[in-house]
Amino acid sequence: MTRLDVRDVTVRFGGVTAVNAATLSADGGQVTALIGPNGAGKTTLFNVITGLQKPTAGRVFLNGDDITQTPTHRRARHGIARTFQRLEAFGSLTVEENIRVAADAIRSKNARPSRVTGDLIRRIGLERYAHARADSVPTGVARLVELARALAIDPKLLLLDEPSSGLSETETEAFGKLLRDMAAQGRAVVIVEHDMTLIMRVSDRIHVLDRGVLIASGTPAEVQADPAVRKAYLGEDGDSAVDVDEHSSPTLVMPEATTEAESGSWF
Ligand SMILES: Nc1ncnc2c1ncn2[C@@H]1O[C@H](COP(=O)(O)OP(=O)(O)O)[C@@H](O)[C@H]1O
Ligand SMILES: [Mg+2]
Repeated sequence: MTRLDVRDVTVRFGGVTAVNAATLSADGGQVTALIGPNGAGKTTLFNVITGLQKPTAGRVFLNGDDITQTPTHRRARHGIARTFQRLEAFGSLTVEENIRVAADAIRSKNARPSRVTGDLIRRIGLERYAHARADSVPTGVARLVELARALAIDPKLLLLDEPSSGLSETETEAFGKLLRDMAAQGRAVVIVEHDMTLIMRVSDRIHVLDRGVLIASGTPAEVQADPAVRKAYLGEDGDSAVDVDEHSSPTLVMPEATTEAESGSWF
């Protein structure tokens, strides 16, 4: 079973410590969320995991193999795929062609790239847009195209950077189901996302970054009950209601803990 381990990773940009000795893991068969206020270091950590950013210190392991120095393109061969916060599809190609390009990239592993492409279009619900130019579709749809492109290489580890922004409420619900399906296929799904309702519903484990530091890890219920998390997100400070952390980022609102019954409906 796939396992990602990030150990003591630090990334410094000049005087800015974007990630500070972060240690976390993600397992196949699970949805793992990475959350935190803007600038917390989430994208930087994704860049380290995919090889776009060399860490100042620390190591990244995939199934126990140290991949810290492995180039990005070779990580794709090891089964790591990602989507970007900024969209990366080829605008002048159709949605179908964009997915096909990715499926062709691992032709040796895929018996039938055209079939893989068709299956993904159906599974992700992109039929309506298959023949539209990628730069003509709504942002939410473009994010799903990114997801299809990532899935086309049949990744073991899938990293999604804010994939649901631009999706409607109904689309987000369907997207949550898709995340669970991807995990049920045995993939390790790691997601950075601002939609806390979605995160609390679909995640098995949540890691919380605040100003580069991993301040909590646990189940959705554990993380929501964690005083350090409540302080970072809600400005709560133990028994002192007035002593609000000046660095707190109240932009994200934590919903009440999802009940077992509710989360059960996602499987
Ligand atoms: N290439 C870079 N050069 C300098 N500083 C950067 C660079 N990338 C990110 N940072 C800084 O690192 C911190 C973390 O950024 P980022 O990982 O994008 O956060 P998040 O994705 O959680 O919003 C921020 O302070 C950001 O300004
Ligand atoms: Mg980011």
